[in-house]
Amino acid sequence: MAGYLVEDQRKVTTLRLIEMKREGKKIAMLTSYDYTTAQITDQAGMDVILVGDSASNVMAGNWTTLPITLDQMIYHAKAVVRATKRALVICDMPFGTYQVNETEAVANAIRIMKETHCDALKLEGGVEILPAVKKILDAGIPVCGHLGLTPQAINKFGTYAVRAKEEAEAQKLISDAKALEEVGCFAVVIEKVPAALATKVAQDLKIPVIGIGAGGGCDGQVLVIDDMMGKTQGFSPKFLRRYANLSQIMTDAIGRYVEDVKSCDFPNEKEQY
Ligand code: KIV
Repeated sequence: MAGYLVEDQRKVTTLRLIEMKREGKKIAMLTSYDYTTAQITDQAGMDVILVGDSASNVMAGNWTTLPITLDQMIYHAKAVVRATKRALVICDMPFGTYQVNETEAVANAIRIMKETHCDALKLEGGVEILPAVKKILDAGIPVCGHLGLTPQAINKFGTYAVRAKEEAEAQKLISDAKALEEVGCFAVVIEKVPAALATKVAQDLKIPVIGIGAGGGCDGQVLVIDDMMGKTQGFSPKFLRRYANLSQIMTDAIGRYVEDVKSCDFPNEKEQY
């Protein structure tokens, strides 16, 4: 039953995450996209709920995160915020909403904050997007960076393989992470890079580094809820630990319901008015 008992029931803030790093306390982060799932996730003791643009894959069935729109992210984030009492809620800025220029980026960031009441935003990229990150921070909006495998750039990478194995890309990741910290980001997500590199970045930075497929040396971990709950099928990267087999549990339950309806077992006398 571990995880249900969080010692500090106060709402998690960006400042608290930085303190947790200083105190050597690991940060637990998980995605959610809807009200009921976010309520369970929050009640289970999650520190951070990410309304990830992975909603594009797991909610809408797209191959990539690119198609999800600003309106769709706002819809998901509103539902998650309504359900969440303690966790910090971060919403992903979707592809195309912050890359054009800083003015558009900050306008879209403000719209997400105003309409969803989430606590912070996440943007993918390093020095290339620094002007947009600065402008959003200047508007008083907390920003979490995202480096390594950045799924919005999948068409440029051409593969979901491990990033930054080569020295040049590793050096760029280190300097990007430093630049994001210097400009004022409160955390950085690092996805699918060698564990030694992520550990070095976590040691170099004062802000928390949250890893996904980046090893145990990070200050916290994030997973996509549908993956760790075993709802997604045919996706089993090395870094993914499955905590349940929901696809099997749901198939069994739904199958029994179908049988009960067809055999006239459901509803019985006690289940009607
Ligand atoms: O969109 C998402 O779910 C993410 C995580 C994989 C970090 O960005």
